[in-house]
Parts: sequence; C-alpha cells; structure tokens
Amino acid sequence: MTNGYTHDVLVIGSGAAGLSLALHLPPDCRVALLTKGELNQGSTYYAQGGMAAVLHDRDTVDSHVEDTLAAGAGLCKREAVEFTVRNSRRCVEWLVSQGVDFDLREDQPGSGDREFHLTREGGHSHRRIIHAADRTGSAISEVLTERALAAPNIEIFTHRTAVDLVVKQGRCQGAYILNQQTGHVELFQSRAVVLATGGASKAYLYTSNPDGASGDGIAMAWRAGCRVANLEFNQFHPTCLYHPRAKSFLITEAIRGEGGRLLLPDGERFMTRFDDRGELASRDVVARAIDHEMKRLGADCVFLDISHQPRSFLESHFPTVMSRCLEFGIDISAEPIPVVPAAHYTCGGILVDTDSRTDLHGLYAVGEASCTGLHGANRMASNSLLECLVFAESAAKHITAGLSKLAAPHDAPPWDESQVTDSDEDVIISHNWDELRRFMWDYVGIVRTNKRLQRAQHRVQLLQAEIAEYYGNYKVSNDLLELRNLAMVAELMIRCAISRRESRGLHYTLDYPDLLPEAEDTVLRPDNAPRRVAA
Ligand code: FAD
Ligand code: SIN
Repeated sequence: MTNGYTHDVLVIGSGAAGLSLALHLPPDCRVALLTKGELNQGSTYYAQGGMAAVLHDRDTVDSHVEDTLAAGAGLCKREAVEFTVRNSRRCVEWLVSQGVDFDLREDQPGSGDREFHLTREGGHSHRRIIHAADRTGSAISEVLTERALAAPNIEIFTHRTAVDLVVKQGRCQGAYILNQQTGHVELFQSRAVVLATGGASKAYLYTSNPDGASGDGIAMAWRAGCRVANLEFNQFHPTCLYHPRAKSFLITEAIRGEGGRLLLPDGERFMTRFDDRGELASRDVVARAIDHEMKRLGADCVFLDISHQPRSFLESHFPTVMSRCLEFGIDISAEPIPVVPAAHYTCGGILVDTDSRTDLHGLYAVGEASCTGLHGANRMASNSLLECLVFAESAAKHITAGLSKLAAPHDAPPWDESQVTDSDEDVIISHNWDELRRFMWDYVGIVRTNKRLQRAQHRVQLLQAEIAEYYGNYKVSNDLLELRNLAMVAELMIRCAISRRESRGLHYTLDYPDLLPEAEDTVLRPDNAPRRVAA
C-alpha cells in the first residue's frame, strides 16, 4: 500500500519554469512542488550567459522578434515569439522584485538609477542579455528557491521521481511518484498537473546538461496521449571545455559576445569562412563549422581565445569560467581555451499553446520540456530562461482562472508492485545507458544521414524491448525510470529526424542538404491521443 497526497496543483520540476509557476499561483492554492534531486539540480542552476529581454533604449520588441524568427529558420510560431518578447521586460521586473541581483553597468557610478549591464550572444543584433556575471542560473535559482521555501502554500518534496501521470475520465489528475528514500511509489492527486521537467540532452554522450536531463516529462506526456513536436532539433552548444576531467563544462557564448575568437590548432581564425557574423553566427552554424573543421583536420578540439581582454574584466564578467578553467591549469587571460560542441538544449517537446496547455485536460507543460513555437528549428541564445518565465506566468494565470471549475480528483488506484521483485542485475541499466548515449552521439548528432538514422532506430527499438521487459519484472528505481524515458525520447527524436527530408536549422543531413520551400513542424501523435485536442 502506498502513501497518498492531495493538492490543488502538482508541479513536477524545480527549475526556473517550475519554481516561477508555483510562485505565481495564488496563496490559497495548495501546491506540491517535486524534484528528482535537490531543489537546484536542474539545468537552470547552471545557466551562465543570461536571459534575453528588450531593455536597451535602442533595442525594440520587433528586433528581438526578428532575430528569434531568423534563428528559428522559418519554424518559429510568430504568435509565440511576439508573446514571449512582449513579456520579457515584465519578467525581468518580476525577477528583480523577487530579489534577483542582475549586473549593472559599471560606467554609471553614483547614478541613482543605473541601467543593467547587457551582453551580446549569437544571433542577437543588439546587446540584450541581462545577467549576473556568468552565474545567472544560480542567481535566479537561489532566489526563487528561497521564495518557494518561504511560501506557506507550497509543499516541497525532494528526491521524488515522477513515474507516470494519472489520467482518469480524459483528465490528468495527478501522478505516481517514486520516493527515492523509501523505494515506494506514492500517489499524488491534484486538480491540475504541470510538467516542468526540463530537456533530454542526456540522450547524448557529451552534454552540457546535469544528470537529470532525461526527458522524463516528454516521455510521460507522450505515454499519457499528448502530441510532441520538433524533437529532431537538438541544439549542440559550440563551446564546452575539452578536458578529460571537465565533464562537458560550458564556456558561455557571452565570451564570444565580448570578442572571443575561435581558432584552429594552428591559430587560424576560421568562423569568418563560414558566416559573415563570424563567432556570433547562430549556434547551429558555429557548431557545424567546428564539427567540420575538427573532422577535416582530425583535431580533438578547437580553441576559444579571449586573452585580449584585461584580466580584471574577465575576473568580473566570467568568474565561473575563469576559476573552473584554472582548476584544469588553463589561464583564460593568457591562453586559448580548448573547446568542443556538446548536446545542450531540446528545442522540441510537448506541444502547448500560449497558456502552456497540453492536449490533455488538466495537464500543462512549461520550460524546456515544452514546445511553444518560440524556438522553431534553432533556439537563439538566452531565449530559454525567458521562455520559462513567460510561459510559467501564463500557465499560472490559466490554472488560477480555471481551478474552481475543476472537480477534486477522483480516487485513483494505488501503485501495484505485487508482480515485481528487486532487480538483481543493475548492469543491464548502466550498459543500456552507455549504449544509447553513444549511438545517439554517433548516429543522431550534428551531421546526420539516412543510414545512420536507420541504424539508430533499429538499436533504440531493441533497447526499448529490453527495457520494457526489465520494467515489467523489477521494482522501479530512479536509474531505470530515467533510462526508460530517455530511450523513449531518443526514439521520438529519431522518428522526427527520419521524417524531415531537408536540412533546416539544427537538423542537418547529408542526404537532404537543401531547405524545402515550405517550413513544417514535425508533429507526432500517440495512438492514445485524446480525440478532442485542447491546445
Ligand atoms: P530545469 O531547470 O532543467 O529543471 C528541471 C527540473 O525537473 C529539475 O528540478 C528536475 O529535478 C525535475 N525533474 C525532471 N524529471 C523529473 C521527474 N521525473 N520527477 C521529478 N522531478 C523531475 N538558457 C538561457 O536562456 N540562458 C543561459 O545562459 C543558459 N545557459 C545554460 C547553461 C547550461 C550549462 C545549461 C545546461 C543550460 C543553459 N541554458 C541557458 C538553458 C536553460 O538553462 C534551460 O533550458 C532552462 O533552465 C530549463 O529550465 P526548466 O525549468 O525547464 O528545467
Ligand atoms: C551560454 O551562456 O552560452 C548559454 C546560453 C544559452 O544556452 O542560452
């Protein structure tokens, strides 16, 4: 028998999306906020560069919209882009009101009303990235976490892994949740459920993401009957530290925004050969150029040089990058940084509308787990935190307006583990994790071909069959749940990639190198999709 909990709203995920959504709900709304690990272990905490917003006098909403549309290679939804950008200033104001300290301009000492310091990143035609040095994510995460801990209506549960959603009478009414400390699966019931579970970049061998980025929310929504879209667009960040012990530490794009140059091992600057914007071309272009040069030269990495900037500037703007590189004996003020691309961001996800509603009544998705139409075929740098904030607020408004009309959840059956036993062979899980991540890197990476994608599809189907058998026979664990989800999302990514017969944005295939005249989303619909689609 399992324990049970009942709340008004169940928020799964404690990154920027989940925390801000929970904080936007009214004080009389009883909220359960869940996280797989500690509160600050998602991608949000590691965000470096900052958050894009229209704040500069000479910047405009139109300019931010046009840059986003250009980066998205014809696939962004204009409505979603305009909605996001129009709300950017307000979201910054909200974060500031919560207590987030963004960097101010250093050239206005003594002025009572100082402006924010804004950096520039790839694809942006203005300086528009608000930041807290190069640790913007932890600045946001720590403040929002503190607020959530202090909110009497928010009950926080850490070390809980959502297994699957509870769907009754065509409505999402909660979720089954593994309590990692007891090993038991508990039933959480609620009037509305929010998936704020982040992306799925752990599907790749090399990634900038923390360990929990296993696409759990995307897999849960798909199993519950929701459509997903555009999962072929996996963003590879061009510059992660290349060092055997660095575990894909990110070197922020803001370094290129401050004049950092990409160099080949012999010192040649190469980005200008690929794009007039040089190092500040959009990420897909830069990552592909690096991949191309590394393969052409058989090089292990390329180099990013910011040593022309004074040491004091680097210490104040990039303290995280500077100190982490020093741990590996690299002084960025004196020498170039060895860098390689790594999987960074899942542009596709659970299809939602501007209220963050999914196809399933009562189920919302926000942040990296969702596909709002903002990013299209390629996310522009620093638009992701912004998307988390904007859509969390609109979801909270929609939930608040409709909550009284949603009936209290019906009694769902407790989790049944009478037919399963303790696992005796965990090596199957670790082996399958490694295999999956390696073939995704080799076959579904920066450059694709039909043959590689078909090989990947064959492999992932075999893995899924093995995982399903294991899942049916043994008690669930966090590792098993993540592997099951990752394999499912990998399969969806491959399916999306196979069905796109062109090269667009982040999806580049040697078999179809050209762009088709019409830009179309890749939308996958599960067999159990609800007949009436809400979104
Ligand atoms: P996350 O912050 O990833 O949070 C996911 C949450 O869901 C976690 O709490 C996790 O524990 C929980 N969770 C997941 N599955 C389950 C489950 N089954 N059960 C219970 N809980 C679950 N974007 C920018 O805009 N600007 C930047 O400067 C920037 N820099 C970045 C740097 C790095 C190194 C990385 C990795 C990403 C960066 N990004 C940046 C991207 C951005 O940080 C993320 O897209 C964004 O933070 C995602 O927020 P989220 O709330 O959707 O998910
Ligand atoms: C970075 O700082 O380079 C990451 C920015 C982003 O992913 O948006």
